[in-house]
Amino acid sequence: MSVTVLVKCLERTPDMLASKIIIPVPKIENRKFTKPLLCGPGPCDVWPSVAEALNKPILSPMCDEYFNLMADIRDSLKYLFQTKSKLVLAISGSGHSAMEATITNLIGPNETMLIATRGIWDERALNIAQRHNIKAIPFRIPFNTTFSYEHIEAELKKWKPTALFVTHGDSSTGTVQKLDGLGELCHKYGALLIVDTVVSIGGVPFLMDEWGVDAVYTSTQKVLSGPAGISPVAFSERAEEKMNNRKHQPPFYLDIKLLAQQWNCYGNTRAYHHTLCSPMLWALLQCLQEINKRTLPKFWKTHADVVGHFHKRLRQYGFNFLVPKAEDRLATVTTVVLPQGYDYLKFVKYMRENYNILIFGGLGPTAGKALRIGIMGVNATIEVADAVADGMAGTLKALTKSYNILIFGGLGPTAGKALRIGIMGVNATIEVADAVADGMAGTLKALTKSSL
Ligand SMILES: Cc1ncc(COP(=O)(O)O)c(C=O)c1O
Repeated sequence: MSVTVLVKCLERTPDMLASKIIIPVPKIENRKFTKPLLCGPGPCDVWPSVAEALNKPILSPMCDEYFNLMADIRDSLKYLFQTKSKLVLAISGSGHSAMEATITNLIGPNETMLIATRGIWDERALNIAQRHNIKAIPFRIPFNTTFSYEHIEAELKKWKPTALFVTHGDSSTGTVQKLDGLGELCHKYGALLIVDTVVSIGGVPFLMDEWGVDAVYTSTQKVLSGPAGISPVAFSERAEEKMNNRKHQPPFYLDIKLLAQQWNCYGNTRAYHHTLCSPMLWALLQCLQEINKRTLPKFWKTHADVVGHFHKRLRQYGFNFLVPKAEDRLATVTTVVLPQGYDYLKFVKYMRENYNILIFGGLGPTAGKALRIGIMGVNATIEVADAVADGMAGTLKALTKSYNILIFGGLGPTAGKALRIGIMGVNATIEVADAVADGMAGTLKALTKSSL
């Protein structure tokens, strides 16, 4: 470096560089936020103990406490997934990261993944697979139903895929896919079975080894009732063998073989791969502890009882379910069809503004066709189910049905003083007169109610 350049560099003191600032300090408003009861299909509220765990100390990724914490998490994940497999760990990221990790670690470019498609998560799996040049083959059924094994077998026979992708609980449709024995069926045709349990695990029975599942992932923000950002995965021995013989490289950050070394899956490695978020590790362990202390069978029953009560209340108010068969309905997320003329977005907004309860409209195939209500994890209680049912009944009563009839307010001397309703010409019929009269009566009733 020449002396002149060196002098120039030294001249650039922080004070001098202050004049070079082109973006001023932003003015961040102190926004008010009233926490709603989170009863959408996710995220769910967090356990109080998890909120506390998030404040625990940051750990260095090479210290003993860190490895002990990961070992405790792995033991609890084996319980959660019901697997004796060693290859159990958690991915740093939300559910999608685990979806991408699972697919790309097991299936290489030009290999085939069959996707049993009924909701948005299967479409996401399709999108991910296509980005990695995997030959992805979706086969579809109506979104409010589930797959028969005959149908799946016919597709397996036809395509002989490397793997079949199935979503267990689908939060976009409110359906739960039967899985018992599906692993065996896949193995008969040389395929691995990959299962998304993001919104089902803990809330409905799932038995990885018993059902022959080869790869499974889930997330913290649903039944586990923690913040999104860390996603458990598990792989069978069959899946492990496939990974050990693979010819392709998955994304570095999601490489399960490298992550297995960091998570010390085989008891002989303490490698650094990336810096895990310690608050998320503490939170995940606490989420798992909440389930451990309740036990899986009891927690499954809690969800079944609470949703049974919730559905009974909804039926009393005349709500209809999107999923026709009771056995296809997911315990954690209920999808409800509103009577004709009601607006889904207005319904959701009214629930938030008047009851401070957050529920969602449809997503993917159910957009504009259903409400999605999640009662799970920390919120799987009769009290929460009652609060949501009360809110929904009140909202239904309060909201004006859309009658799609145009009438006018006053004009000139009658402005603000009258409605003007024209029934004439082609519309001069008893039917039109009745429709308008009905609409006006309904509107009068609904508006009075909402202003009470
Ligand atoms: C069944 C299912 N799979 C995957 C995801 C994606 O998870 P995330 O939004 O945490 O990435 C969700 C999220 O709602 C889900 O419900």
